[in-house]
Amino acid sequence: MIVFSTSDKGGTGRSVTSCNIAYRLCAGGRSVAYLDFDFGSPTAGALFEIGGVEQGVPEKGLHSYLTHGSEPVARVDIRAATDRPALRNIRSRTGQLVLFPGDEGGAEFNGIDDETDAVVGRCITLLAALEQEFDVAVVDLSAGRSLAMELALRATASPHLSSATVRWLVFHRWTRQHILAASGLVHGHHGLLAGAALWGHDKKKFLENLRYVRTAVPRLNKSVDGVYRGAQAAWLTEQNAALKALASRHLIGATSLLGETPVEPVLQWREQVILDTDVANKIANPETAAAFDELTARLIDTEYWEQF
Ligand SMILES: Nc1ncnc2c1ncn2[C@@H]1O[C@H](COP(=O)(O)OP(=O)(O)OP(=O)(O)O)[C@@H](O)[C@H]1O
Ligand SMILES: [Mg+2]
Repeated sequence: MIVFSTSDKGGTGRSVTSCNIAYRLCAGGRSVAYLDFDFGSPTAGALFEIGGVEQGVPEKGLHSYLTHGSEPVARVDIRAATDRPALRNIRSRTGQLVLFPGDEGGAEFNGIDDETDAVVGRCITLLAALEQEFDVAVVDLSAGRSLAMELALRATASPHLSSATVRWLVFHRWTRQHILAASGLVHGHHGLLAGAALWGHDKKKFLENLRYVRTAVPRLNKSVDGVYRGAQAAWLTEQNAALKALASRHLIGATSLLGETPVEPVLQWREQVILDTDVANKIANPETAAAFDELTARLIDTEYWEQF
């Protein structure tokens, strides 16, 4: 399975949530590849706490591979390379967790023009190989209507990947601006759906394989400092209802939702993988780990995806 993580806005929680999903897939025994397709800001190494790879690798990263075909493409065994002992020691029956980092000082593609076919071809080759080697390949794209997005759409339209299960996750915060932006990314001009149709995907099938993830959603019944009461509680309930109505009107309501994550103080302070030990030590909230577990379970639950 190939999973593309995208968002319209930056800073939505796309990378942190995707890393946590990748970790939980691996802890559940699956082999997982994590591809940093955020070419302009390849910081996945930092999330997995891999010293020296926090901002990508000096050579043979994904950008070099796609633009010049430099091989073999760099790969980092996350459990062997992480500086975080508890992540090194996760139990996993069979699961590998491998990072395919971007290039240090990498740049967004300027526009894939003359070289387009070659870049798309390399992307197809890589994704097809990783789809065979791993149970799940998670691809973290850049925010917005990026060339990484175009590349993903074009590569997955290829007959070489026609038998692969491909899913899209669109991340957004639980605010008016983010709801409109996420909906626009999918349904708007030059959006994902238009791009999918342009590159030969079936629109209906494409949408059936796309879900939204709401990140850092504040809880109504409990603030960081205590419990909401009176006018404040009433206002928040009203705003939440208004956001739900807005999301439904913009086609990103409950029926197209994969799930949501609560506001997590650990993640507000530090981008990282939330481990069971963080919860056991009462550093991270159990609700956050449960939310990541639910997202992970749903992502690979065929019945869940077939009910739509
Ligand atoms: N559930 C959460 N609660 C609190 N903070 C969160 C939560 N999820 C993510 N964050 C924080 O939000 C910030 C942005 O997250 P992240 O870097 O994953 O977003 P992104 O969409 O990948 O951003 P970019 O577009 O810059 O790549 C980070 O500091 C992250 O730790
Ligand atoms: Mg990111």
